Amino acid sequence: MSWIDQRPDDAMMGSFEAIGPEPIATVAPAQFREAMSRLGAAVHVVTTAGPAGKAGFTATAVTSVSDQPATLLVCLNRRSQVTPILQENRVLCINTLRAGGDPVADLFAGRTGVPMAERFAGMDWMSLDTGAPVLPSAVIAFDCRVIEVKAVGTHNVIIAGVVALRLGEPGPALVYHERAYKQV
Ligand SMILES: Cc1cc2nc3c(=O)[nH]c(=O)nc-3n(C[C@H](O)[C@H](O)[C@H](O)COP(=O)(O)O)c2cc1C
Repeated sequence: MSWIDQRPDDAMMGSFEAIGPEPIATVAPAQFREAMSRLGAAVHVVTTAGPAGKAGFTATAVTSVSDQPATLLVCLNRRSQVTPILQENRVLCINTLRAGGDPVADLFAGRTGVPMAERFAGMDWMSLDTGAPVLPSAVIAFDCRVIEVKAVGTHNVIIAGVVALRLGEPGPALVYHERAYKQV
């Protein structure tokens, strides 16, 4: 069995080997999460729309990959309800939240218990090229097509090509640091 075929449970239950192409030692998941909580990161709502329907999730695991062609990566837990929807739609929009966007972040993180179908209600959404929902209040919205998906551990690393973007009003953005929302 290759390392990407390991079930997420195996990785979560304390068998801390075989996470690379060659078996290597690693640290406990809780220790890693504690370490990651000390890194401040921008908060985004990643949305998708298409034949499989509309969905979105809150993410901090978003990174720039290349500027030519403009490419980002997003990491999404394979157990998320968004995973099969995004897999079929193949488009997404990364909406970088403005300071004060805590309620939207909590909503799309599933922390308020609002079902997916209702999470888009009560806010005005736009779209750019792909049809993925764009949050007008976002600091930036990156409208993307999925180029490649690679399973790594518990998550899918989604390589996304930016086909359009919308620069919102300049201003402070929302970041997550030490398990709290802050602004930068
Ligand atoms: C601040 C914050 C950042 C998050 N970042 C990610 C992320 O980068 N990738 C991810 O898969 N889930 C991330 N999550 C968790 C998801 O937003 C969501 O809670 C999870 O996918 C379960 O959602 P569901 O019950 O709607 O499927 C984050 C949650 C919070 C609160």
